[in-house]
Amino acid sequence: MKENDIYKVKIESFDINGYGVTHIDSRVIFVMGAVVDEEVLIEIVNVHKKYAFAKIKEIIKTSNYRLESPCPYYEFCGGCDMMHISYETECDIKTKRVSQTLRQFDYELLPIIKADKIYGYRNKVMVPFCKDIDDDILYGFYRKDSHDIVSIDNCLISDDLTNKILNFICKYLNLFHISIYDETSHTGLFKEVMIRHTKLNEYMVVLVTTSNHDFTSLVNYLTDEFKEIKSIFLNINERKTNVVLSNQYILLYGSNTITEDILGLKFNVSPSSFMQVNNSQCEKLYSKAIELAKLDKTMNVIDAYCGMGSITLNIAKHVNKVYGIEIVEDAIANANNNKKLNNISNAEFILGACEDKIKELSHINNIDVIFFDPPRKGCDKSFLDTVIEMKIPKIVYISCNIATCARDIKILEDNGYKLIKAEPVDLFPRTLHVETIALLTRKN
Ligand SMILES: C[S@@+](CC[C@H](N)C(=O)[O-])C[C@H]1O[C@@H](n2cnc3c(N)ncnc32)[C@H](O)[C@@H]1O
Repeated sequence: MKENDIYKVKIESFDINGYGVTHIDSRVIFVMGAVVDEEVLIEIVNVHKKYAFAKIKEIIKTSNYRLESPCPYYEFCGGCDMMHISYETECDIKTKRVSQTLRQFDYELLPIIKADKIYGYRNKVMVPFCKDIDDDILYGFYRKDSHDIVSIDNCLISDDLTNKILNFICKYLNLFHISIYDETSHTGLFKEVMIRHTKLNEYMVVLVTTSNHDFTSLVNYLTDEFKEIKSIFLNINERKTNVVLSNQYILLYGSNTITEDILGLKFNVSPSSFMQVNNSQCEKLYSKAIELAKLDKTMNVIDAYCGMGSITLNIAKHVNKVYGIEIVEDAIANANNNKKLNNISNAEFILGACEDKIKELSHINNIDVIFFDPPRKGCDKSFLDTVIEMKIPKIVYISCNIATCARDIKILEDNGYKLIKAEPVDLFPRTLHVETIALLTRKN
């Protein structure tokens, strides 16, 4: 078998990344975009000893599992991965991904918590701008595994108003011939736009540029047109890096924060603070995590990687005392402000890295439960070591990357803990990503 070879195959199953799987001469073939039960003509794109990747040349017999994608950009855009299959099938693939990744443990896998809304759910987008060969300014999302921008004017997983604001900004940039950043030559001004909104219908717009610039007219046009915009920032990022936002924010309009409601509590959120991108699923996630922890009013709890305190303050309602630890200064400022906003007195927020700050809490020997919700890379090993030393009876691990979560669970299982239950939660419909809650307890 070699690259560019063509084969006619029948797709046998889906793998955990949503690829169609077939076999040729005992080699496993992963076919991008192929659907189980389908007969397809495939072209081999990448060959390894025991497996190969292929793309579809032609669908000979369509499977009943295939859906017509409602998004015209789906074939090219790297934003979504599951629009060609039903939502049921998507949830089965996500469940399989969690169960396969955790297969070394003996535990109970609970059914995936599905989303009620699979389109229009995202409350945050980050959109790069560029110029096409005719010098027209456009925006979009990156093609899969590439830095080419696929031009779009309507993203189905974002909401309508976000799409309208992006269209509006793009028209403005074209009309006023604003200089656009070119990442190859590292020249030009305008890089990206971030838009975040809340279910209280408050919108925040962040314009990302390489240097300061007078955007007074754009700000005036935007705020005249869209009354929902409560905050506009300029973020100046001169660096040639994949990290889009720098620490340099300048408030151009309105308020420093917008306000979200999560399970009846109010949260003011700054542009640099983390907020889950799907509010209604986030509420289900937090409720389930709190339910699994079986909290009561006698308990003392740590919420590690707490962001703006959204889980922490929801935990506070059920316990004696909760400590939140977070590394981003603005997020801790939001968290302290959110504590006041909701009249909560039994939460304490600590600024710093969990791996350092957990040590300061290790003298409190009656911590009953610790929640972790780390970024995709998972927990720092020294943080886990301290949790193990503290012998905290119960851990609720919320993860957006089941691979690093499994790695961390292995460390915990080797050091006195047992995985009891895991529950996938679909926070990101139509994409490959899945959130998981894992409950661990100390043996004995
Ligand atoms: C997935 S978010 C979860 C935030 C919060 N629990 C929520 O649901 O909104 C992870 C958070 O961990 C923070 N973080 C990343 N590395 C950290 C570290 N070493 N120590 C403390 N916080 C960290 C990030 O700034 C981010 O707010």
